[in-house]
Amino acid sequence: MKRLGILTGGGDAPGLNAVIRAAVKTAWLEYQCEVIGIEDGYDGLLDEGRTRRLAPEDLHGLLPRGGTILGTANRGNPFARKVERAGQVVLEDVSPLIMSAVQRLEVDGLIVVGGDGTLRIAQELYQKFKLPVVGVPKTIDNDLNGTDVTFGFDTAVQTATDACDKLHTTAESHHRVMLLELMGRDAGFITLHAGVAGGADVILIPEIPFDIQVVCRKVMDRVETGRKFSVIAVAEGARPKDGEQFFWRAGDEVYVPRLGGISYKIGEIIERSTGMETRATVLGHLQRGGRPSPFDRWLATRFGAAVVRLAAAGGWGRMVGLEGEKIKDVLLEEAIAIPKRVDPHGEPVLTARGLGIVFG
Ligand code: F6P
Repeated sequence: MKRLGILTGGGDAPGLNAVIRAAVKTAWLEYQCEVIGIEDGYDGLLDEGRTRRLAPEDLHGLLPRGGTILGTANRGNPFARKVERAGQVVLEDVSPLIMSAVQRLEVDGLIVVGGDGTLRIAQELYQKFKLPVVGVPKTIDNDLNGTDVTFGFDTAVQTATDACDKLHTTAESHHRVMLLELMGRDAGFITLHAGVAGGADVILIPEIPFDIQVVCRKVMDRVETGRKFSVIAVAEGARPKDGEQFFWRAGDEVYVPRLGGISYKIGEIIERSTGMETRATVLGHLQRGGRPSPFDRWLATRFGAAVVRLAAAGGWGRMVGLEGEKIKDVLLEEAIAIPKRVDPHGEPVLTARGLGIVFG
């Protein structure tokens, strides 16, 4: 193994730079193998001059740094790329260009660090062209199978819990209902973990459609027992039993619809129904940015080293993951087959219910 390529795709997550750092160091120190960094996900393979050899000086100060020094592209699917033809926007399959670009780089394999979408593309490239790929799971949402946990999740939960703690004190002082809207399109892990850790009274997640009247009753039950405030943690992708998810921008053939604003909607209904004053906070990208937690640095470093060893062992089409205390590897195909979701009947939800937390 003489040379590997590495790219980061999809929404960024704290710990991406720690993966890059560990991969470059391990490749060089264990295998005398150089690593070529590819900019902005798969896009960097489609244009000239967007790849560079990662040298030791590129790694300085990288461990605690958020984001990704390689950049990322959210919707750069090479199997359906938006291009302009004769004044019209059409979708084109440019995946063969990816294959030839990788060949030109003369790499022995490609390390793909990404979530569901990015790893799905890697799997397709592997299947269609036998492109030698190895994967590293990344997402703050923790919605990927094949690993107990993804890096970035711990940092996101810390930020969200901190926000929940802060809302508590102001909620209590003003006798208000505070809603905290957290990320999680289809998976409620951030909201569940931060909600429990931050002592929320109500937790609303995509996996458990809610009844707003049950939420209002909880708020009023608290008032009646002298607790004149409530904190509600709500995932952006939560939806009422008899309704849809709440979008503030429609999608198109490239971009998925953008969720957001459900906390304002719920807040209005609670205010009308209970007479309690409500306020909503949308935490948004604060959950994704900034320094990774020590756990995420630790996990990302182990993933970065393990993925290089996986490539050296010829484990193409596989992804590294965490199982208990150990790093393992699984087929990419298996990891992306079924997305990970909160089990509505699992122990964490039952524990929360046992504490009196209402899921609507
Ligand atoms: O996939 C991670 C995620 O944080 C989702 O929870 C959220 O819906 C989405 O990214 C936001 O993505 P964008 O930055 O493209 O708005």
